[in-house]
Amino acid sequence: MTTRQYAEEALPQKLKRRVKQFFGPWGVFFEGFVRNPVMVGSIIPSSDRTIAKMLGPVDWDECKLFVEYGPGVGTFCRPVLDRLRRDGALIVIDTNPLFIDYLRKTITDSRFTAVLGSAADVEDIVLSHGHEHADYVLSGLPFSTLPDGVGPAIAAGTWRVLRPGGAFLVYQFTAKARAFMERHFRRIDNGMEFWNVPPAFLFWGWKDEDADV
Ligand SMILES: C[S@@+](CC[C@H](N)C(=O)[O-])C[C@H]1O[C@@H](n2cnc3c(N)ncnc32)[C@H](O)[C@@H]1O
Repeated sequence: MTTRQYAEEALPQKLKRRVKQFFGPWGVFFEGFVRNPVMVGSIIPSSDRTIAKMLGPVDWDECKLFVEYGPGVGTFCRPVLDRLRRDGALIVIDTNPLFIDYLRKTITDSRFTAVLGSAADVEDIVLSHGHEHADYVLSGLPFSTLPDGVGPAIAAGTWRVLRPGGAFLVYQFTAKARAFMERHFRRIDNGMEFWNVPPAFLFWGWKDEDADV
C-alpha cells in the first residue's frame, strides 16, 4: 500500500474518532443505537430530571446492592454512585458490548461492576457476584420491543431477586412495562417526566415486606 493510499484509507477512521471524541458519551450512545436500534430503543440518553425523579424514592441508607438493566453509556450510573453508600455495590447489565466496554473504561469506582449479559439472567449474575438479593433494580429496557417472552422473564426474575422492602424502578417511553410488572408487584406508583426525549413513563414497583415470595 502506498503512503497516499494509506492516508486516504485512514481519513474516514480519523474522522469517525474525532466525531466520537467531540460528542463524548452521546456519540457512543448514538453509535450503539445505529448498530442495534431495536434493542437500544432511544437516540438520546435520559435527562437529569428523569434521573432525579426516578431515584427520588430510593432509601440509600438501606441500599447495599443496586442493579441496573440497560445502562447504555452510564447516564444513571454516576448519579447512582454519587448517592450509594461507601460499602454499597452497583451492578449494571447490558447486552451491548460497545456500551459495556465504554463503561469499564470510563467508570473506575471500586463499587461498580459492568456485566455483558441479559437482564433475564439477573438472579445468576447477582449470586455469582456474591450477593443473595438486590435492594433496588432500575430498568431502562425497551420492554415494548424486547423479543417474545423476554419481558415476562425479566419481570419474574426481578421479583425473585429483590429483597422484601425493595423496589423495581422502571422508566419507558410507553406504559407497556407496567403490564409486565403487574403480574408480580401489587403496589406500583406511577409518574411521568415530560422533560425527556421522548417524555418518559416512570413506575416504582414495591415488593412489600408482607408480599408472597
Ligand atoms: C433506552 S436504552 C437505556 C439508556 C440509558 N439507561 C439512559 O438512561 O440513557 C436501553 C438499553 O437496554 C439495553 N438492553 C436491551 N435489551 C437488554 C437485555 N435483555 N438485558 C440488558 N440490557 C438490554 C440496550 O443495549 C440499551 O443499552
